[in-house]
Amino acid sequence: MQGRQIKQCGLSSLTLLATFLHCNCLPHSTGGKPFPETAKEIASYAKVAKSIIDLAVYGKAQNRSYERLADFTDTIGNRVSGSKNLDLAIKYMFSALRKDGLENVHLEPVKIPHWVRGEESAVMLQPRNHTMAILGLGSSVATPQGGIEAEVLVVESFEELKKRQKEAIGKIVVYNQPFVSYGETVQYREFGASKAAEVGAVATLIRSITPFSINSPHTGWQDYQEGVQKIPTACITVEDAMMMARMAKRGQRIVVRLTMNAQTFPDADSFNTVAEIIGSEHPEQPGLVLIVMVRTEDVPSLIVPLLTSHRRVM
Ligand SMILES: *[C@@H]1O[C@H](CO)[C@@H](O)[C@H](O)[C@H]1NC(C)=O
Ligand SMILES: *[C@@H]1O[C@H](CO)[C@@H](O)[C@H](O)[C@H]1NC(C)=O
Repeated sequence: MQGRQIKQCGLSSLTLLATFLHCNCLPHSTGGKPFPETAKEIASYAKVAKSIIDLAVYGKAQNRSYERLADFTDTIGNRVSGSKNLDLAIKYMFSALRKDGLENVHLEPVKIPHWVRGEESAVMLQPRNHTMAILGLGSSVATPQGGIEAEVLVVESFEELKKRQKEAIGKIVVYNQPFVSYGETVQYREFGASKAAEVGAVATLIRSITPFSINSPHTGWQDYQEGVQKIPTACITVEDAMMMARMAKRGQRIVVRLTMNAQTFPDADSFNTVAEIIGSEHPEQPGLVLIVMVRTEDVPSLIVPLLTSHRRVM
């Protein structure tokens, strides 16, 4: 009985942890079972799932998830890939998972990108002076010293960029794409720089991929395409992107000076954090494997290579 309680307790804390860590639970192979059978099997866990949710939302574990998230983020802060803070975050998680009684908690060495944002700024010089809130996008190159001062071309989509490609030469392309969904709209952040570079732009500023803004730039990783000139790229706020779109519509000439000192270093040594829950009823069978992501949004992610040899949910 006690063993079971401990097990349940571990599971519930873990569920709470998983709400603020990204957990990549690898799907259980259906073992050749037809889908309806697998669906039925999963449905049979509804009661267990409900008891975990109840414990977390109404029960003894109420607020625990929030409190742990607050403790983690207050104590560690930003955890840029390759940074000291990321090391601290991994240590913190490793010990938290152990304390929670998870099994086979261990670290696996892995190489990760090491990119440092450095000082950065974007200042509008025309039609008026205005300092913009920006965040460089992960893996962006720096501007030359002194920055890039150029006229802005505002576009709402890749199609518009294509149509107006002659106007993009030598300009800073500002993407003011409307937010549709994260999955769809994020392509502007991921590929915007290379698409603009292909048509001769010198830098890109990308409206943050978010439906909500309080003049807050929202960064993330971006990908340069092979064989395309790498140009500096940063995200700007929804407010500034919309303002520049209004200015452009009025026919006003917009000039921006973008300065970025980002640096990419050789890949750094880091760890994947892995934990396991061995089943309480069938401990001889493969348990639940969790690969914990401790990355922060404000940075290039710690891309956690999935364990290819694993398996399984309960
Ligand atoms: C959780 O937080 C809410 C809001 O602050 C509070 O009313 C409630 O008592 C807390 N629950 C526990 C178990 O601490
Ligand atoms: C605008 O900014 C530039 C560069 O920072 C500065 O030299 C200039 O004096 C400013 N103009 C006004 C009107 O504030």
